This record gives sequence, C-alpha cells and structure tokens, in this order.
Amino acid sequence: EHVALAFSGGLDTTVCVPLLEEEYGYDEVIGVTVDVGQPEAEFAEAEETAEALDLDHYVVDAKAEFAELCFDAVRANASYQGYPLGTALARPVIATAILEVGKEHGCTGLAHGSTGKGNDQLRFEAVWRDSDLEVIAPVRELGLTRKFEQEYAEERDLPIEGGDEGKYSIDTNLWSRSIEGSELEEPSYVPPEDIYEWTTAPTAETLEIQVGFEDGYPVSLDGDEMEPVALIEELNDLAGGYGVGRSDIMEDRMLGLKVRENYEHPAATTLLNAHAALEDLVLTKEERAFKKRVDHEWSEKGYQGLVNAPLVRALEGFIAETQTRVTGSVTIRFEGGQARPVGRSSPYAVYSAEAASFNTEDITGSIEQSDATGVAKYHGFQERLANRVIGQHNE
Ligand code: ARG
Ligand code: SIN
Repeated sequence: EHVALAFSGGLDTTVCVPLLEEEYGYDEVIGVTVDVGQPEAEFAEAEETAEALDLDHYVVDAKAEFAELCFDAVRANASYQGYPLGTALARPVIATAILEVGKEHGCTGLAHGSTGKGNDQLRFEAVWRDSDLEVIAPVRELGLTRKFEQEYAEERDLPIEGGDEGKYSIDTNLWSRSIEGSELEEPSYVPPEDIYEWTTAPTAETLEIQVGFEDGYPVSLDGDEMEPVALIEELNDLAGGYGVGRSDIMEDRMLGLKVRENYEHPAATTLLNAHAALEDLVLTKEERAFKKRVDHEWSEKGYQGLVNAPLVRALEGFIAETQTRVTGSVTIRFEGGQARPVGRSSPYAVYSAEAASFNTEDITGSIEQSDATGVAKYHGFQERLANRVIGQHNE
C-alpha cells in the first residue's frame, strides 16, 4: 500500500513520513511538492529532506495554473479580511496535483500535515474526499504538538532545520507570503522587521508604473506584455522594494478561531488596486455596488478553498459580463508603502468631458442646465415633508 504525502520538507510533513509507515501501516510514502511559486530554497530543502528520509519525491509545476486562478481573483477583487487569499487559492491547486500523482503511482491514500485548528485541512480534504482514496491527517489525528514533533524528530534523527527559521510557520506562493506562530500569535506583539522577506520598510522614494488590463485580466507592465507568472514575480520584486503589500490582521478562520496573521503580497496589492481603479472608471454606479456583493461571495468561497463550487461559476458569469469593459491601463504610484492609483484610462470609460461640462449637443441631447431646476425642486421633498410631520407631533 502506497500513500502520497503533501510534502514541503518542513517539520510537520517530515514527521509524517515515519508516522505513515508506523502508525498507519503504509509500505511506502511518496512525497509530492507542488510548485506554486515558492522560493528556490524551499525546493532545495524538500529535495534534501526527502533524500535524507529515503523518500520518493516528485515536484509538480503548477505555477501557470495557479497564476491564472490569481487573475480570476483579481477580476473578483478578492480579499478576505484584508488578505488577498494566496494560501487559500493555492490549496485546491496543490490538492488536485497531489491527487493526480497519487493515482498515477497507484496510491491508496493521500496525506497532509495540516493541524486540526486551521483552514488548510478543510481545503485539501474538500478536493481529496471527492476521490475514493483514503484521506489521512496524522498531525490532527494523532494530536501532535510542535513540541512533540521536535522531540520526535530529534529522537529519530530526522533531518529538520533548527534555529530561528523554524520558529515561525511560513507559507509562500506567488500571491502571498504568510508568517504565523510563535510570539506573532499574541495580537499585541509588534512583529519585528525581520519577519518580512518580500517587502522592505516603506521608502522615501516613489515610483510610477503602468498596468495594462484586458477583460479584467492584467496583461502588461509599462507597456510590455507579460505572462501571468512573470508579471506577478516582477511586481512582487518591484512593489516589495517600496514596502507595498504588508498586512497584519485578525483573521476569522473557518472553524471560528480568531488568529493573528501577517502577510506580504506586493504584486497582489498592486494588481488589485489597479483593477479596482479601472472598474471605477468603466462600470456604472449600480454595477459597482452590486459587484461588491458578488466579489464578497467569491472571496468567501475562495477563502474556503471551494473555487469549484457551482456558486462560483454562477458568480463568474456575472463577473465575466462586467469584465468585457475592464480594458485599459492604470498608473500606480508606489508611495509611503501604498500602491495608489493616480491615473486611469479605457476606451470604455463612462466619462465624457463634453457631457460633464454641457458643451456638446450630440452627447447631452437637448438637455440644458435649466432642465435640472425641476429635479432640484423635488430633491429632498419627502424628507422635508416627513420632518414637518415629525415637528408637528413633537409640538
Ligand atoms: N490563515 C491563512 C489561510 O487560511 C494562511 C495560513 C498559512 N499557513 C501558514 N502555515 N503560514 O489562508
Ligand atoms: C495549519 O493549521 O495547519 C496551518 C494554518 C491553516 O491551515 O490555517
């Protein structure tokens, strides 16, 4: 019997390897690392740890697919309590890739190293439980604590990195880097500067860039067309250098826990701000208001790791209809740690200099300024009446 394990080479997944054999009776464990844009060092660590464990190890490149999902999230202005959903969106992509590798290698089980307190267990299993493979969550099922894992690893002489780096639990992909655990869990504790790797502290310098969109998808940077993965990587570097995209939030997890989370997401912040600025130019007032509700629902499903829900397809029907006009470009200024829209243009702009200044007959029809007099007379009529009635009753 073989089992495929979501493997990062970190402490949780490393202790899972012997446990799957000893506690769950599997003959062989296959480690699968899915590339959703983690830094090179993480693959080297996974590779090294796998070798030391004598573990069959597979790496699946899902960056392009993940980047596409991130851009669907941009079209939905997706964020959850101030977090652009990097980890949340990556999980279904990772789970699907592991399921495929597991099936290819004749596995009868799938395992992850997530705890029983977090969101990731739910997101992985939502995908896996749609197969007939056994789902195993050793950390949760055996009630493992980090302290136990450290001692167990030491006893067994398992290859784990020690020291400061292991202090935090870090999850990195193209869209965001999350840092949690240890002292950071205490909401009043001010994070030290060294938890950040993608962002510097906000700088005195500023920079203006131009982001181009087609149908709501980001397509270019300063006029150069770019593939999604390259565009995100480039913007993480660029915006991160100006301190853009840090957030420190109290996150309500799916199981009800409120957890302090720190994130870095320079590209996501830049693209989300730019996209919203372009929508503000091309959508009508009511489309903007209604889309906020649609975007909220999309974000909730995204956070839950349920981007394949029928509801999401239906929401995306509405989103797609609105995005046919979200074409154009936005100037963003990196300034004081912000990515601020400072200019926008589109062939679909619901804006006309002539209409705004009543200059041209063929846009305003035969409307004249004085036509507004009747509207002005009525404006506030009901409020005036109601206040008079209230006043009379209070006399
Ligand atoms: N709480 C976040 C989420 O549910 C991110 C968790 C990332 N995991 C980590 N070990 N830092 O999407
Ligand atoms: C975990 O608890 O395993 C990581 C954090 C999360 O899933 O939210």
